[in-house]
Amino acid sequence: MNKNSRLHQKLKDTFNQMEMDFYPCFDWQFPPPGVRTDNPSSIFQQSLSQVNDYSIYLHVPFCLSVCKFCYYSVSAAKEDNPIRQNYLKALTREIEVYANNLPAGAQCESVYIGGGTPTAMGSYLTDIVKLLHERFDLSQCQEFTVESSPNTLSRSYPKELKVAGVNRVSYGVQTLEQNVLHDVNRHYDVPSILGDLEMLGDIIGNFNVDTMYDLPGESEGAILNTLTTLMRYSPGITLYALDPIREKQGVGVHETAESAQRKFHTAKQLLTDQGYNQLFQNNFVRSGGSYIHQYRRWDNLPVLGIGPSAQGYLPRLQYTNINNIKQYIDREDNFSIIEQQALDHTLEAARELTTKLRFSGVNVDDFNEKYNTDIFTTFSELIDILIGGNQIEFVDGFLKLTVAGERNNNIIPMMFSPDELTGELCQMKHPLAPVFGEFGKRQSAAY
Ligand SMILES: C[S@@+](CC[C@H](N)C(=O)[O-])C[C@H]1O[C@@H](n2cnc3c(N)ncnc32)[C@H](O)[C@@H]1O
Ligand code: SF4
Repeated sequence: MNKNSRLHQKLKDTFNQMEMDFYPCFDWQFPPPGVRTDNPSSIFQQSLSQVNDYSIYLHVPFCLSVCKFCYYSVSAAKEDNPIRQNYLKALTREIEVYANNLPAGAQCESVYIGGGTPTAMGSYLTDIVKLLHERFDLSQCQEFTVESSPNTLSRSYPKELKVAGVNRVSYGVQTLEQNVLHDVNRHYDVPSILGDLEMLGDIIGNFNVDTMYDLPGESEGAILNTLTTLMRYSPGITLYALDPIREKQGVGVHETAESAQRKFHTAKQLLTDQGYNQLFQNNFVRSGGSYIHQYRRWDNLPVLGIGPSAQGYLPRLQYTNINNIKQYIDREDNFSIIEQQALDHTLEAARELTTKLRFSGVNVDDFNEKYNTDIFTTFSELIDILIGGNQIEFVDGFLKLTVAGERNNNIIPMMFSPDELTGELCQMKHPLAPVFGEFGKRQSAAY
């Protein structure tokens, strides 16, 4: 067996081993959490002082009830539970840290309040929206989104949010199969969802719905039936495969990655036939909808991560906040970062390359110019093998995953990690360790 066929075989074995991973993966951070941690506040202050335009992600960790599949850091604490008030106080302190340290003139271009279910906070959420408007320069903000879910929107509430400055809602439907909703601990009926969507269309206009496929007990045509109805209402639709690796309560009877991919492509066909455009892999939008926050996030632009478990990115710095709500509230200073990674030129470049390869494709000329490098020289062997194995392709100036490669969308980008990082990942027994050994060495020192 020559070297190339040996490498092809090794790749295949690794991909097969990870076959039970999901498609498409719904979360991404590069470098992966836990790989390297640097000393907090000094780098943070310096990075924050270099921010020009930015986005805000703010995490609200409360829901009416916790869905069995949910992977996020959330609590079903009731409205009168003091933890909610205390969370708000801690959040306000954290907002002040950012507002007081951003350079004068820095502009916020998009805000995303996610969770959890922010609209489960009622008028507290309106107060948060107002506070952000007071403390940051949102005069150029193009998109201000709050996440929502059924049973949390009264008739007057979307109007109240709109007046406070919200112009987009991301609403979680998941499926319109009543028995499936019930089994995953989501208790509301389908007509109430459709009533909410009509109201969002009338009052907010720009909104998207989250849907999921591969949920336990769903019928064969569940996702297509769900989408057929939702397309009548929503300018934006997001598709998620149930991620059984990350869900916490053991609902995951995940089918194979192959069947997940098949469902995804059938759903994609239906949506694009009906005039939706695909953005960043699993978001679909038609006129009246937008995904500006996601666009900025996957374009490697700064995001202030505020609230427990939020992830942020500033020039030369990636960070994650304390996950535990109680610890977030009880922390002694106003600083909530638990883990941060300083990014040198090489890691910055790798972050952009891997993220774009994963979500949209890499414009090679733009990338080479920005990072003063040549991807095809730096990764010549890896690119040859991946193109030969039909995992990536070079089309119209873009390096992209092929349809076969999409299935390995959370693996292939990682293979473009720089040597020093793959070394650390190997020590952490990352599943890609066997192939990193073969491809880890770049052929040029430049990135
Ligand atoms: C932070 S949740 C917020 C949405 C809102 N709270 C709701 O559920 O209606 C964002 C989306 O992540 C998706 N999600 C959550 N857990 C997941 C899992 N284990 N696998 C795949 N998608 C998941 C769901 O589609 C959900 O709507
Ligand atoms: S999926 Fe949404 S509603 Fe369900 S627990 Fe997670 S964040 Fe809360």
